[in-house]
Amino acid sequence: MKFFIDSADVGEIRELSQTGLIDGVTTNPTLIAKSGRKFTDAIAEICDLVDGPVSAEVTATDAEGMIAEGRALAKIAENIAVKVPLTWAGLRACRTLTDEETMVNVTLCFSANQALLAAKAGATFVSPFIGRLDDIGEDGMQLIRDIRKIYDNYMGLDTEILAASIRTPVHVTEAAKAGADVGTLPPGVFRQLVEHALTDKGLAAFLADWEKTGQTVPRK
Ligand code: E4P
Repeated sequence: MKFFIDSADVGEIRELSQTGLIDGVTTNPTLIAKSGRKFTDAIAEICDLVDGPVSAEVTATDAEGMIAEGRALAKIAENIAVKVPLTWAGLRACRTLTDEETMVNVTLCFSANQALLAAKAGATFVSPFIGRLDDIGEDGMQLIRDIRKIYDNYMGLDTEILAASIRTPVHVTEAAKAGADVGTLPPGVFRQLVEHALTDKGLAAFLADWEKTGQTVPRK
């Protein structure tokens, strides 16, 4: 499973990219607003920090506007993935931009049929929002399972399933089990992945016992 970071905070992305485990970044207009940065400046900086796809979202709602914005965003860096909403206009823009070999992330996906449309429109990624479905009492993870099954039923549906709106480490585990290609994680959830009380306890015990031996592990 690839890990993307769901943030427009350049400092956080710089720090987390040092783990060597970050495969890309997703942003959205809310995250850009939260960063307080100029959109194109923040995106350009993030693209420099991460080799993989960096999603930058259009805000036009008509296909022509989305295509124009998408073309401009794609000029920022080679690793831009233009993010378009899952609307008829977004699907049209997706087809045009992917035909021009620009990566496209179709976002705000809440049903399997929407995901099927995104794949037929040639999307590089489709972003089903797990947490927001859970918020309204639906089963977000079931959507990931359904999309995986549908995509695997047909040759040529190569769109990657990007599990979005992830809120907890359990979401990450379940999305991986369901076969999501990518999970986009808020920085806090990414940091939580390594944590386990028994790891901390076990390490403390090993180090305490080691200290009693008076030895050091050779470094050369
Ligand atoms: C990612 O591309 C989405 O914009 C993001 O995961 C949305 O998450 P939220 O539902 O927590 O805002």
